[in-house]
Amino acid sequence: MTTTVTVDLPGRPYDVVVGSGAVTALASMLPASSRRIALVTQDGIPCDIATGLPTEVIAIGQGETVKTMTTVEALAERFAAMGLTRGDVVVAVGGGMVTDLAGFAASTWHRGVTVVHVATSLLAMVDAAIGGKTGVNLASGKNLVGTFWQPAGVICDLDALATLPARELRSGNGEMAKYHFLTGDDLTVLDLEARVARCVEIKAAAVVADERESGSRALLNYGHTLAHALEIATHHEFTHGEAVAVGLVFAARLAAATGRIDEARVEEHRRVVVDEYGLDDRLPDGLDPDELVALMARDKKAIDGLTFVLDGPGGLDVVRGISPDAVRATLAGMRRR
Ligand code: GLY
Repeated sequence: MTTTVTVDLPGRPYDVVVGSGAVTALASMLPASSRRIALVTQDGIPCDIATGLPTEVIAIGQGETVKTMTTVEALAERFAAMGLTRGDVVVAVGGGMVTDLAGFAASTWHRGVTVVHVATSLLAMVDAAIGGKTGVNLASGKNLVGTFWQPAGVICDLDALATLPARELRSGNGEMAKYHFLTGDDLTVLDLEARVARCVEIKAAAVVADERESGSRALLNYGHTLAHALEIATHHEFTHGEAVAVGLVFAARLAAATGRIDEARVEEHRRVVVDEYGLDDRLPDGLDPDELVALMARDKKAIDGLTFVLDGPGGLDVVRGISPDAVRATLAGMRRR
């Protein structure tokens, strides 16, 4: 049994198939014109893909440090060598790093070829593979170069999670915890397939409402402003989801410090993040608050001073012009590890 969620973009709807054995839906997502597949993945990722089409497997390296323009160029050279045309398809099999990179390469190869994502990490299933954001990092920031390029379909085969390292599963939990605050839903009462499908539904609705993030889609970045800064400042000692966990509790504390929510709501954030999802909300010792503030000021949302997604009486909102002093004071009040 699988669950299908449609990302209902006008004129370009696509399906996200969630469940055990969902990978069998892959062949139906490939364009009829496809004569070959460029399959972008990493060594060690379970990759049981049977489409009947000639497939060139291209393995990229491991770790956030390979999420660069250099890797995109290497992928493009491989596409050139195999003669990949606009009628063919890129299939990304992996976590968010793979889907972001392969999506970016597909969006620029011959000015855009079809991409299908086969998400193998929880984080990619509930967030990265859905919604068409692609990107690579620069030394000065995460995902600073990227495109919007919607996939033709997404597979979230829960069987892939059986071999996912525990830390990677926890990282996905960081993104799942975020969805509690986007809708107020208690997702912890759902079984895994229903929970992943519900996260996909929430994300799909946000993407359909604001595909290019000119407004409400930015709410999906709840907890991410500090998270991205932490990932960079600690040289990716944190996984993305672990950093989002700290970022969610930080954002709640900042919202309380600016009078938007009360302490009970801050405690609700801590409860979901720490008690429900088993994540750590503590900030590492020894980080330079000025460096974190400088990194947060470079966030893509920060057009007008320090900008955060903050909770408030009417729910989440993008709040601009937060004072660096309020941010430093909130950082100083975070629990330490
Ligand atoms: N990960 C946030 C978004 O896709 O908009």
